[in-house]
Amino acid sequence: MNEMKYYRDLVAQRERIEAFRRAIHAVVKPGDKVLDVGSALGTFAFFAADAGASVVWAVDVDPVIHVAKAIGRLNGYEDRIEFIRGWLPDVEIPGKADVIIFEDFPPQMLGGREFRLLRAVHERYAVSGVRAVPQAGVLCAAPVSSETLHAQLAPFGAAETAFDIDWSPSREYAVNTPLNVGIDPAALLAPGERVGTVRLDRPPQLESVSGSATWSSERDADVHGLAYWFDLDLGGEQRLSNAPGAEPGSWGHLFLPIDPPLEVRAGSEIRAKVGATARGDGAPGWLTWEVEAGEERRTGHAFRSAPASLADVTEGSPDSVPLLDRRGELELKVLALTDGIRSIRDIAGEVVAERGSLTQAEAERLVARVLRHKIGVGYGLAAAAERGGP
Ligand SMILES: C[S@@+](CC[C@H](N)C(=O)[O-])C[C@H]1O[C@@H](n2cnc3c(N)ncnc32)[C@H](O)[C@@H]1O
Repeated sequence: MNEMKYYRDLVAQRERIEAFRRAIHAVVKPGDKVLDVGSALGTFAFFAADAGASVVWAVDVDPVIHVAKAIGRLNGYEDRIEFIRGWLPDVEIPGKADVIIFEDFPPQMLGGREFRLLRAVHERYAVSGVRAVPQAGVLCAAPVSSETLHAQLAPFGAAETAFDIDWSPSREYAVNTPLNVGIDPAALLAPGERVGTVRLDRPPQLESVSGSATWSSERDADVHGLAYWFDLDLGGEQRLSNAPGAEPGSWGHLFLPIDPPLEVRAGSEIRAKVGATARGDGAPGWLTWEVEAGEERRTGHAFRSAPASLADVTEGSPDSVPLLDRRGELELKVLALTDGIRSIRDIAGEVVAERGSLTQAEAERLVARVLRHKIGVGYGLAAAAERGGP
C-alpha cells in the first residue's frame, strides 16, 4: 500500500471530513483538552484547535504523525497540538481529555479491537462526563434479496460440484462469513431498523451491539441475508452513515448471509436478531445473526466461518502447553538482546553467531523487522528492508 496516498485520500473524502469538521466545532468548547485517537495527518486535531481547544493530543502509532507535525508547524498549530507517535492505550498523555475523537471503525462499528481501545481510552485518558465525536452510532439491519450476493456464496451452483468434485463441506464456512461487500440499496426488502446503539461518550458495553428488529417485506422475494451498517451521530446535528448506497468514504457495510434463502410474500413479517458472542474480557467476539419468516428460521455464526480442527481450538485453552516455533525462538532471542546497550548491529551479530546460515546484512534486516513489529522501533531500517533496501 502507498501509505501517503491512503492518508491523503482520507482527507479528500470531503463529505466525511466536512461533517466531522462541523461536529468538532459544535462539540469542542474553548479551553477544552482534546484527544484525537488515530490522528493520521492531523486533520481532526487541526479542527479541534480551530474550535478553541487549549491543547490537542494527536496520537497515532503510524509514523505518518511526523508528517502531521510538519503540517501543524507550517500552519501555525504547534503551540496547541502535541503530536505523539505511540500506541494507545500504552502511551502516556499528560492530562485528561474533555473530548475524544475516534473514527477508525470496522464495518460493524464495534469489534473486539475497538471495544478494548475505547474502554481503555475512557479509563485512562478521559474526564468523567467526557464528550465524544462521534457521540453515538446506531447499528442498523435490513433484509436483503440479492441473487448476485447469493451467487457469491455458491459459485459452484446448488449442486456444489465443479471439476467432478463435490465441494459441499466448504459451503457452511462460506455461508457463515460476514461479507464486506457493496450492497445495492435496491436489494433491501424494507428500510433499516435499529439493532443496537453504541455510545462513544461512555465506556463501551457488549449489550449495545445486540438487538432484534422486525420488518414487513415490500415485495415477494427470497431473503438472502441481512445488510448491516451504522448511522453515526457525530454531534452538532451532523450525521454520517455507511448504509447501502451512502458514500461517506472509508467504512464498508456487511452482508450477513443466510442459507438456504427464505421465501417471503409482500407484507409478510421478517424478524431478525444480530449480536456478538462475549470474549473472556467482555469485548465482542464472533458476530451472530438469526432471521425468521413464518415458521422458518436461519442462523449465522461467524465462528462457523473459521476452519479449525479440534486441535486448533484446544491450542488456546489455559491448560495447553505452548511451544515456540523456530521463528518464535528467534524473535525471543532478538527481544532478550534488546537491552538498551546493544545496537541492531550487535544483536544481529549474535544472531549470526547462533544461526550460521544468515549473513550479517540479512540478520540486521531481520532484527529490524522483528523490532518494528514487536516494539515499534527500527522503522526506517525495517521499511527499507521491506522495500528490498540495504
Ligand atoms: C482510518 S485512519 C483515520 C485517520 C483520521 N482520523 C481521518 O479520519 O482522516 C486510522 C488511524 O488510526 C491509527 N490507529 C489505530 N489504532 C491505533 C491505536 N491503538 N493507537 C494509535 N493509533 C492508532 C492508525 O495508525 C491510522 O493512522
